[in-house]
Amino acid sequence: MLLSVENLSTSFHLRSTVVQAVRGVSFGLERAEILGIVGESGSGKTVLAHSLLRLLPHPPARIRGAIRFGGNDLLTCDDNVIRSIRGNEICMIFQDPSTSFNPYQRLVDQLVEPLLLHRSLSRTEAVEQAVAALDETGIPDAARRIHSYPHEFSGGMLQRAMIAMALVMRPKVVLADEPTTALDVTVQAQLLRLMRNLRDRYAMTVLFITHNLGIVAGFCDRVLVMYAGCILESAPAIRLFGATAHPYTRALIRSVPDLTGGIEQLYSIPGVPPDPAASADGCPFFPRCPYGADECTTTPPHLEPIGDDHATACIRFRNGGIAW
Ligand SMILES: Nc1ncnc2c1ncn2[C@@H]1O[C@H](COP(=O)(O)OP(=O)(O)O)[C@@H](O)[C@H]1O
Ligand code: SF4
Ligand SMILES: [Mg+2]
Repeated sequence: MLLSVENLSTSFHLRSTVVQAVRGVSFGLERAEILGIVGESGSGKTVLAHSLLRLLPHPPARIRGAIRFGGNDLLTCDDNVIRSIRGNEICMIFQDPSTSFNPYQRLVDQLVEPLLLHRSLSRTEAVEQAVAALDETGIPDAARRIHSYPHEFSGGMLQRAMIAMALVMRPKVVLADEPTTALDVTVQAQLLRLMRNLRDRYAMTVLFITHNLGIVAGFCDRVLVMYAGCILESAPAIRLFGATAHPYTRALIRSVPDLTGGIEQLYSIPGVPPDPAASADGCPFFPRCPYGADECTTTPPHLEPIGDDHATACIRFRNGGIAW
């Protein structure tokens, strides 16, 4: 196991309330796998990714659990250890590129900085690699445009530049938080191909966060389905669609037009996700679940195995299955 997350919980302790954004999440990342995390907006995906690299301000954030990587626990190791891992062995691609660039510095300087810091390259070599990376992400005329300032790039171009900045490091792990959401489908497909290519060539491991089940189906090896800060199902992508074992996953699949064939049958999940400040005793999906029963309100939702590399937190599915 390259990286393992054990019972991770992240909460925000605000003046009048406690927001429980991630609730007891455990999973492992194998070398060279592409693991998807899928869930609706607000389910805790971004907070989870930021917790892994200790990027959240504390207070108000409080993180419990363990994150094992290369002999360290990323939650308790020294600041200088996490700094040497961040942006080097584990790179993050953020949802919003505008926050990850310094507006007053040319892109070239921002792209070569981590290369000069963590790799023993000359500046000329570093610039060459940065230009090649921009080129790979589909930025036209990269050798010239690398000398631009961030504001001279469109949002989509900046998003690609950020992906280039992460990939140029050839990290062991890339945490990609909805990196293609703002891009048109052609560019999106090109970047997914590029990431898969780097996985194949350099055994790069990818944790890919998305709300788009279509991407999960075509790009990820394995998938975690996240809801209200919990993982409700974990399965190889093929099994997630072919042998769905959680009502929430099933509802998500039914609400994607391309996967169900036709807008007429498009399903929308009734109700809204629970308030992350409310405490939850039983299954968090209970208020929206068409299969809910009394037993679901008292038992905490533990992810338990039901077969080969497949686990569900639905007790009713485990107790004899649900006929969809
Ligand atoms: N800094 C913060 N302070 C308080 N609550 C937060 C903070 N960041 C995120 N949250 C809350 O945590 C929950 C999960 O958010 P997030 O991880 O951004 O969801 P996702 O990425 O799945 O859309 C949400 O309810 C959000 O409002
Ligand atoms: S545990 Fe109960 S409420 Fe939760 S998903 Fe399963 S059937 Fe639905
Ligand atoms: Mg998010």
